[in-house]
Amino acid sequence: MWFKNILDNNKKILALAPMADMTDSPFCQTVKHIGGCDIVFREMVSSEAIVRENEKTLYMTDIEKSERPIVQQIFGADPKIMAHAAALIVERTAPDGIDINMGCPVHKITSNFNGCALMKDPDNAAAIVQEVKRAIGDTPLSVKIRLGWNDPDTFKEFIPVLEDAGAELITVHGRTRSDGYSGQADWQRIAEAKRIATVPLLANGDISTPDLVSKALDVTGADGVMIGRGALGNPWFFSLASACKSNDSISWEERIKIIMYHLDLHLAHYGEKAIVTFRKHIGWYLKTQSLGRVVPGIKQWRMKLVQVSSREEVAECLWEMKVLLLENREPLG
Ligand SMILES: Cc1cc2nc3c(=O)[nH]c(=O)nc-3n(C[C@H](O)[C@H](O)[C@H](O)COP(=O)(O)O)c2cc1C
Repeated sequence: MWFKNILDNNKKILALAPMADMTDSPFCQTVKHIGGCDIVFREMVSSEAIVRENEKTLYMTDIEKSERPIVQQIFGADPKIMAHAAALIVERTAPDGIDINMGCPVHKITSNFNGCALMKDPDNAAAIVQEVKRAIGDTPLSVKIRLGWNDPDTFKEFIPVLEDAGAELITVHGRTRSDGYSGQADWQRIAEAKRIATVPLLANGDISTPDLVSKALDVTGADGVMIGRGALGNPWFFSLASACKSNDSISWEERIKIIMYHLDLHLAHYGEKAIVTFRKHIGWYLKTQSLGRVVPGIKQWRMKLVQVSSREEVAECLWEMKVLLLENREPLG
C-alpha cells in the first residue's frame, strides 16, 4: 500500500495533485525524475469513456515504470460504471492506487452529478466508494473532496460516510465548490478534517511555495500535502521542499535542461506536432512564482516562447534568454 510504506517510515507524504491537461505521463515522469515527490496523482479520466474503451482515454492511463508509485483518478456518478472503469484500469496498468474525484467544481462535470456534486449526495458517494472498492480488491482507494458544496462544514459528516464505505485515504482541498479558486484555502478546517478522519489525510490548497509545506503540515496536522499549481512549471517543488530551499535556487542551466527533458518526453508521448500543447507548460515555467524572483522583461520572453513551433526554437529561445538575462537585455525581435 503506497501510503503505508511512507507513513510507517514516519515521513509525511508529498503528493503531486491530479490536474487535467497537466499531470499527464510526461509531466509525472519529469517530477519523478527530479525526485522528492512520494506519489503522483494522474489527471482525472472519465469512467464512462473508460468503459466505452475510448482509445484516447485509455492512453491517458498508461504508466511508465519511472512514474511509480502512481494513483489514477477517475470521475463519474454511476457506481456500477465507476467500479467497472476502476477494474479495467487496474487490470490494464495496475496503478498503485485509484482515486475518486469528488472535488471538481467545473460546471461541465458537476452538471452530470460528478465531481464535487457528489458531496450533495452522500448516499451515492458511499455507493460509488463501496462498488469501486469491491471491484479493485487490494488496490488502495482514495477520495479527493472539497470542504463542501456551499457549506464549508459538510466535510464533517461526509468524511465518516466515505470511511465507512471503504475509502482508505482522503485529500481535502480547503475550499467549497462555490469558492471555486477564490480566497484562501481554509487550513484550519483541514485541521478539523484531520481530527475527524480515521484514515490518512492529505491537505490541499494554496501550498504554493516549497517553504509553505512545513507551515501547512503544522497548521493542519495532516499526514501529508498535495501540491497542485505550485508544481506547475516547477517540478523541483518537492525536492526544494525536502531541502528547505526556495524556487530561485534553481539555476537557469538546470531550468533549461529540465524544460527540454520534459519537452522531449511530451513530444515522444504525443507526437512531433504536440509542441502546441507544450506551450501551456512553458507559460508556467516562466511565471514569476515558478522562478521565485522578479525577472525584468519576463512577460516579453513568455510571449515569445509561447509562440514557438519547434523543439529547436524552444532550445534556441531559452539559451538566448539565459544569455540576455545575464546581461539584462530585452529579447531580440
Ligand atoms: C489546471 C488544473 C486542473 C485540475 N484538474 C483536476 C483534476 O483532474 N482532478 C482533481 O481532483 N482536481 C483537479 N484540480 C484541482 C487540484 O488538484 C487542486 O485541488 C487545486 O488546484 C488546489 O490545490 P493548489 O492550490 O495546490 O493548486 C485541477 C487544478 C488545476 C489548476
